[in-house]
Amino acid sequence: MSVGAGRMGLEEVEVTPAKNTNPLPDPRDRRLPRLPDPCALVVFGVTSDLARKKLIPAVYDLANRGLLPPGFALLGFARRDWTHGDFAQLAREAVEKGARTPFREEVWERLDAGMKFVPGSFNDDEAFDRLVQTLDDLEHTHGIPGNVAFYLSIPPSAFPVVLKQMQRTGMASNEGSRGWRRVVVEKPFGFDQESAASLNELVDEVFTPAGVFRIDHYLGKETVQNLPAMRFANTLFEPIWNSHFVDSVQITMAEDVGIGTRAGFYDETGAARDVLQNHLLQLLALTAMEKPVSFNAEAIRYEKLKVLRAVSLPTDLAAYTVHGQYEQGWLAGRWVNGYLDEDGIPPESKTETYAAVRLGIETRRWAGVPFYLRTGKRLPRRVTEIAVLFKPAPHLPFDATDTTELGHNQLVVRVQPDEGVTLKFGSKVPGSAMEVRDVAMDFLFGEAFTEALPEAYERLILDVLLGDATLFPNNDEVIESWRVVDPIEDFWSGTAPCRYRAGSWGPRAADEMLARDGRRWRRP
Ligand code: BG6
Repeated sequence: MSVGAGRMGLEEVEVTPAKNTNPLPDPRDRRLPRLPDPCALVVFGVTSDLARKKLIPAVYDLANRGLLPPGFALLGFARRDWTHGDFAQLAREAVEKGARTPFREEVWERLDAGMKFVPGSFNDDEAFDRLVQTLDDLEHTHGIPGNVAFYLSIPPSAFPVVLKQMQRTGMASNEGSRGWRRVVVEKPFGFDQESAASLNELVDEVFTPAGVFRIDHYLGKETVQNLPAMRFANTLFEPIWNSHFVDSVQITMAEDVGIGTRAGFYDETGAARDVLQNHLLQLLALTAMEKPVSFNAEAIRYEKLKVLRAVSLPTDLAAYTVHGQYEQGWLAGRWVNGYLDEDGIPPESKTETYAAVRLGIETRRWAGVPFYLRTGKRLPRRVTEIAVLFKPAPHLPFDATDTTELGHNQLVVRVQPDEGVTLKFGSKVPGSAMEVRDVAMDFLFGEAFTEALPEAYERLILDVLLGDATLFPNNDEVIESWRVVDPIEDFWSGTAPCRYRAGSWGPRAADEMLARDGRRWRRP
C-alpha cells in the first residue's frame, strides 16, 4: 500500500511498511508533516517576477513533496487577456525553470487540474465578481469549502485598491462560510512608519489580524531557523552570548546581482527599505533575542519585538551610517553597468544600492556591543552571514610574537551559500615552538544532512496554508523596524550616496566607519 495516498504527488511512492508495524500513519506522530485543509491559493500579480521565479515553483515543490491537500486550487489573477491554457503554460515554464524538485508529469497534471486564471485589472469590479464566483464553484468542483489564501504579489501602491475590492465583494470574510480567509502581504510593508500604520489599518478592516501574514522570506530559510535551534538547543553558546564575551556582531547580506528588471520598484525603494528594514533587522532580532517561552508565533514575536524596541541609532548618523550607489566595473570577469546606466533609472537618481549602519541594543545583555549591518548590490559575491566576534583572550601566556596572527574568536552563521556554521579559534601550529594561529571548524548542512534544504517560499506558503504564523513578523515588529529606518532615510535624503565600484566591497566610507571604532569588516 502507499502510505500517504491522497497527498498530492505521493500516490506513486511505494513505501513498504516494516513487519509487525501498523501500516497506517498515526496522525499524532509529530514527525509526519501536517497537511493543510483543502484550500485555494489566489495569486494577485501572477505574472510578476516573484510569482514566476518563486511562488509557482514553490507550490509545485510542495505538491511534489506530497505536502498539498488533495483538494487544492491555484488561481492566478492578472491584467492579461489570457485563457486557462496561457496561464497553465506560464506556470509550467516557471516550474520547469525554477522548481527545486524534479519535474514529474503526474504531479504537474494534478496541479494543472486545480489551476484557474481570472483576467482583470485591479479596478475592474466585474473581474473581482468573477473571482468570487470561481472561488464559490470550487466547493462543488474540488471539494474546497471556502478556505482561501490571497497572495499580494503586486506593487505596494496597488494594495489599497485590491484590499478594497476584497472588502466590497466580501471575499475576504468567512462569515457564513465554513472556511478560513488569509492574506499574504509582501515586504516592504509600507514605505515608512506612517504609511505602514495606515496600510495596517486598511488590512485590519478587511481581514482578522490572525489572517494577516506579512512575509519576510529570510525567516523561511532553514539556516535562519537554525539560529534559535543553535542558541537554545545547546548549552555551549548561550553563556557567552552577551557583552561580557562578545565584542561586536556583523550582519552582511551581499549580492552580486544588480537591480535586474526591477528598476521602477528599486529606484523608489533603495537598499535600506528593501532589505535593512526587514531581512537585516529580523536577523538582528533572532541573533539578539532572549529565549522565547515556547516556539510559537506569539512567544517568538514577543521576544523579537523586545529586541527591536531596544535598538538604538547612532547619535552621529554621518559617522555611523553609509549609503552608496554602484558605478560600472568588473564583476566576476564581466563588465557591468553602473546604477545610473541601468534601464529605467533616472540619471540623477540618489537611490542607495548599498547601506551600512551601526546599531546598539539597549539591554543588559547587549549594552555596549555594536551591531554592524550592511547590504549591497553588485558586491563581489552573493553571501549572507551573521558573524559574532568575541573579545580577545584577556591574557596570553605565550610569547606575543608567536601569536600575531591570532584574531578574535568568531562564530559565523552562513545563511547562504555554503549553508552552515564556522567557528574560528586559535590553535597551536605543529612544531617545537608554542606558535598559535587561527583555524576554522566547519559545519555544513550539505554534509551533515542528506535532506536538501527547502526553498524559503515553500516553507512559508505551506505555513500560510496551515495557519502557522511563527515565521511571519507581526505589525508591531514592522512598525518598530520603521522606527529604526525612518531617521536614517531622513538623514540620507539630503545627501548624495557615496560611489562604489561594481565588484568592490562597497564604499570606502563603510570601511572608515568601522575603522573609527578600531574594527574591520570581515571578508566573507
Ligand atoms: C528581496 C529583495 O527581498 O531579497 C531583493 O527585494 C533581493 O532585492 C532578495 O535581491 C534576495 O533574496 P535571496 O533569498 O536571494 O537572498
